[in-house]
Amino acid sequence: MEEQSIRVEERQDKKEKPKSEDLIFGRNFTDHMFVMDYTEGLGWHNPSIIPYQNLSISPASMIFHYGQSVFEGLKAFRTENGDVQLFRPEKNVQRLNQSNDRLVIPPIDENLALEAIKQLVAMDSDWVPSTEGTSLYIRPFIISTEPYLGVAPSHYYKFIIIMSPVGSYYKEGINPVKIAVENQYVRAVKGGTGEAKTGGNYASSLKAQELCEKEGYSQVLWLDGVEKKYIEEVGSMNVFFKINGEVVTPALNGSILPGITRDSVIQLLKHWDIPLVERRVSIKELYEAHQNGTLEEAFGSGTAAVISPIGELYWEGHHLVINEGKTGDISKKVYDTITGIQYGKMEDPFDWTV
Ligand code: COI
Repeated sequence: MEEQSIRVEERQDKKEKPKSEDLIFGRNFTDHMFVMDYTEGLGWHNPSIIPYQNLSISPASMIFHYGQSVFEGLKAFRTENGDVQLFRPEKNVQRLNQSNDRLVIPPIDENLALEAIKQLVAMDSDWVPSTEGTSLYIRPFIISTEPYLGVAPSHYYKFIIIMSPVGSYYKEGINPVKIAVENQYVRAVKGGTGEAKTGGNYASSLKAQELCEKEGYSQVLWLDGVEKKYIEEVGSMNVFFKINGEVVTPALNGSILPGITRDSVIQLLKHWDIPLVERRVSIKELYEAHQNGTLEEAFGSGTAAVISPIGELYWEGHHLVINEGKTGDISKKVYDTITGIQYGKMEDPFDWTV
């Protein structure tokens, strides 16, 4: 693909920034956004950074009807010396193209997307907050914009990047959450779209989420869509268990999102020589491990919350309290190390930061 340069239109009337202590995940947006259009025949064109603004698109745009869209999530961090750094951004642009492939959206130029992220962050760098636990959340996404009600891949798209200064994703922070095992609804099935980052996966998760919250749980633990026996994800995160000294995470099976934090956790555990396996893990196995005292830890991993320890699992009338409801050693060590690298407080042996 031929190299394209990004047109820049700077905003004159800068917005007021929220105070660090008032940051709520994904509620405030920075001064600028990136936009690039796709037109059949012309390809992706006109990459631009413009003032953050509303879109004007036809109500017939296909995105509104059939949900042909993909998105990503990554963060920029303020280091102690005032620099701003990204965490593994190339993985996000690669995954965006994997999701594009599944949703029949034309691939983007990964180098251009990476450059767009870097230029946008540099332009709005004074929006990267500096108090502990805060960061700038970056949301690249693609929507189908063709005004047409036939069910088919769109011929027009918009690739947009918006950014939001954020505090912690869950009000619990790194404190353990209570999780209910979901027996009725499923998040994804093999052959479906579970391994793509597309809005529909999140829309279909809302019903179970709403019901579990009414019962006093923060999230659900998703089981596989066929046998409803095997663990897939927790809420919108990947999941890890420590059983009898070994860390186990569900193997990527076609319906699980290949999380970048998941991959980082796996690399760290291997680096520390902590036994780690990716395999199928059933809810029955977890129950039995809990009964015989070998279910030592459980935690979710994702970009938004990084690590979210699980203090209790509710399954078929059983309240399985894990590690006395406290944050486990591995959860803490992984959280401290990933955030330490992200904020430039720890050495980065993997060259994850940019
Ligand atoms: C994440 O853990 O980063 C997620 O996937 C949640 C995000 C959709 C807000």
